[in-house]
Amino acid sequence: MALVTSTEMFKKAYDGGYAIGAFNVNNMEIIQGITEAAIEEKAPLILQVSSGARKYAKHVYLMKLIEAAIIDAEQSAGFDLPICVHLDHGDTFELCKSCIDGGFTSVMIDGSKHSFEDNIALTKQVVAYAHDHGVVVEGELGRLAGIEDKVNVSAEDASYTRPEEVEEFVTKTGVDSLAIAIGTSHGAYKFKPGQKPQLRFDILDEVARRLPGFPIVLHGASSVVQEYVRMINENGGKMPDAIGIPEDMLRQAARGAVCKINIDSDLRLAMTGTIRQYFAEHPDHFDPRQYLKPARENIKKMVQHKIVDVLGCNGKA
Ligand code: G3H
Ligand code: 13P
Ligand code: ZN
Repeated sequence: MALVTSTEMFKKAYDGGYAIGAFNVNNMEIIQGITEAAIEEKAPLILQVSSGARKYAKHVYLMKLIEAAIIDAEQSAGFDLPICVHLDHGDTFELCKSCIDGGFTSVMIDGSKHSFEDNIALTKQVVAYAHDHGVVVEGELGRLAGIEDKVNVSAEDASYTRPEEVEEFVTKTGVDSLAIAIGTSHGAYKFKPGQKPQLRFDILDEVARRLPGFPIVLHGASSVVQEYVRMINENGGKMPDAIGIPEDMLRQAARGAVCKINIDSDLRLAMTGTIRQYFAEHPDHFDPRQYLKPARENIKKMVQHKIVDVLGCNGKA
């Protein structure tokens, strides 16, 4: 199977009360761990690439690795794994165009830092080009806190999505899905210790009421798996107070209008925790394959858990 857009995935997810995992990819081991989990669980998959990932690994390497994952799924499992390749947080028309021209099947244009009018104008421009090329577009309204491509959006600068804006935004831009801000945030420090994690489900419900059947996206949705935070802290790392979104809240979102759940930090934690532990236990080893192998295995394990216990998209491919 060739790469697919997210259109069919989102329609089935919306109707079926589950969500598709959108996992950030930066190298071969991460791509392999994620896709092996998706193959085993027969789960549709979105692999997303940030502009930072593109700078780190180069567009062509990531595309070829993703193509290899599709071929591997066919050959080793006899299974057509539907994969959508998505640009995460595109911030300019030129970046979106370059990813569309380079074979991505979905792009996000994140105009959330602009005024409502400028966000509409930019998003509309990307949608026109993308749709002409058979590519789908995710827009964003509202602003998440946290680290995003080296820019730290403070809690004060973050803002919830205003439900009264969503119909006009979707109608005027023609976007295919919409990311909203309901209290999730990027990175590993989403809530303060002692603070009760809360998401604004009232905003999500109102958005869903105003946009019936329309796929909603949740960014900043890592649960900051404590097993890996502990592994990091017990092996020389220093990530005190790393706290994520409780899994039951993500499940609740997935049952409703949220069709795409973005996960990056949990992949980073699984990889870093595993490698730190490996180094602590094997100070004499220096072959990268020795520590990248368990890192890839733990990414696979973690993604399988997300697919089955959080997203509910197992068996849906
Ligand atoms: O939302 C941001 C993603 O976690 C991507 O992070 O820009 O550091 O690759 P990055
Ligand atoms: P996390 O930092 O919670 O993994 O969010 C990732 C994300 O939203 C990528 O766009
Ligand atoms: Zn994001």
